[in-house]
Amino acid sequence: MTERLNNHNNSTEQLNANLFGKDILSVKQFDINTLDQIFESSVEMAQIIERGHILNILSRKILANLCQLYEPSTRTASSFTAAMERLGGSVIETNGITYSSISKGENLSDTISTFGCYADIIVLRHPEQGSVELATKATDKPIINAGDGIGEHPTQALLDYVTIRREQPQIEGLTVTMLGDMKHGRTVHSLARLLSLYSGVTLNYISPEILRMPKEIMKEVSLKDVKQVEYTDLQEVLSKTDVLYVTRIQKERFENPDDYDSVKGSYIITPDTLKDAKKTLTIMHPLPRVGEIDPAVDADPRAAYFRQMKNGLFVRMTVLAGVLGKLPTSQNFY
Ligand code: NCD
Repeated sequence: MTERLNNHNNSTEQLNANLFGKDILSVKQFDINTLDQIFESSVEMAQIIERGHILNILSRKILANLCQLYEPSTRTASSFTAAMERLGGSVIETNGITYSSISKGENLSDTISTFGCYADIIVLRHPEQGSVELATKATDKPIINAGDGIGEHPTQALLDYVTIRREQPQIEGLTVTMLGDMKHGRTVHSLARLLSLYSGVTLNYISPEILRMPKEIMKEVSLKDVKQVEYTDLQEVLSKTDVLYVTRIQKERFENPDDYDSVKGSYIITPDTLKDAKKTLTIMHPLPRVGEIDPAVDADPRAAYFRQMKNGLFVRMTVLAGVLGKLPTSQNFY
């Protein structure tokens, strides 16, 4: 066996061992070594899909997809379903609470315990921070957090990380500028924590005053070898930025609708906004966008948000296969 194949097999075995049977609740669970392995496996998953090859490693496994039960979801829900089916597994889908017993008053714990009886793995999105962790007490099946209110969205951060690695030469030393709703954006909460593992990273947070990055997260990140700076104006840092991560102002999470009205439309990226930006800039957005990026930017080769969305499939294939302990250990599996 060649040394390369050996290394590959060791790394896949380690990733299987690291993820097998685990709940995925927060990016705090991952170290750089695991992230490297997730990146490598996701690139392999991309090759399998792009070459039209078949990998039936999750046949007879069932995913309960609860991304669209308590909150809306387009990309996260459909990419988890596609990931499961691309690997030969099947999916119990959910679609709002109207046709579930939640509308009869069933609580989260009983709902989760039910799906735990029928599925091998559960993906849950819920509007309350901490609820996914709570849900893990109701079943012994692994649960993946697909967004818990303003808390975390760990698989989004993993796909954001894979995207940055595919678009930029390296993560160390990058200047990543996050723009929009730093207060309620679970994607930026997870991504800031994840990037803080890489030395020399600068994190700029740009938001209206009432939507600043929560102090607890800044405090946590400040313990690492990264620099964090807050601004209200993008042009102050755009020319030095390597990755511009745009987010939606999270209307549904405001307590007072007048506050939303006072900040909506605060930042809109147009081709003109980008005129002083680096040629090597990567523009990202977790999507959905509701006006923050003018569709005229889509034709700019620096616009990576559709590639980012595609990476979601490959990363979720890796996470599902890893948590079920089924990542293939031979490099010639496809
Ligand atoms: C994000 C989310 O749900 O937090 N969407 C996603 O999963 N891609 C971002 C958002 O809703 O703004």
